Amino acid sequence: MHIPEMDRILLDESEIQAKVGELAAAVSRDYRGKEVRLIAVLKGAVIFMADLARRLEVPVSFDFMAVSSYGHSTQSSGVVRILKDLDESIEGRHVLIVEDIVDTGLTLRYLLDLLEGRRPASLRVCALLDKVGGRKVAVPIHYRGFEIPNQFVVGYGLDYMERYRNVPFLFIMKPEAQAAGKPAV
Ligand code: PRP
Repeated sequence: MHIPEMDRILLDESEIQAKVGELAAAVSRDYRGKEVRLIAVLKGAVIFMADLARRLEVPVSFDFMAVSSYGHSTQSSGVVRILKDLDESIEGRHVLIVEDIVDTGLTLRYLLDLLEGRRPASLRVCALLDKVGGRKVAVPIHYRGFEIPNQFVVGYGLDYMERYRNVPFLFIMKPEAQAAGKPAV
């Protein structure tokens, strides 16, 4: 696929898939004998969740939440809005939140507080990408894939104006495209 806005590849497909396998092995080991409710945060986490789930060796069920923190901006607004809640109760369940990326931590902080109040048996986080330099609030990440630089990354679920989520690798945008992706003020 030709991607005109791409500066360079940050993580190629084989690096990502190897890490997904490592994360799945760790989760499978820790949850042996238990059933896990995977909760993906739409939309970006769908690709990671699909790959992770297929490598897990414990019984799993899926549920989804939609929250909005960015809109079409490339910077976090800090505003978390709930767009779609879970379909099922998580009371007494072992819940694993699956996130593609943790940046400011605001989305995850909100989700952890919300879901903890619903009395799950356990609540952990699996995030493929950790943009540590963007953090505004501290959040626990029990299973973490990669630490990445504080740059605008796209692919493997992450979008540029809703495009390129299907790209199997992770790439850094050209600076001029990053600027173009910001909303007009
Ligand atoms: C991304 C990502 C997380 C959130 C993390 O979603 O999937 O949910 O941002 O950012 P934070 O740590 O700064 O809160 P986004 O809002 O871009 O929605 P999308 O997955 O639908 O693209």
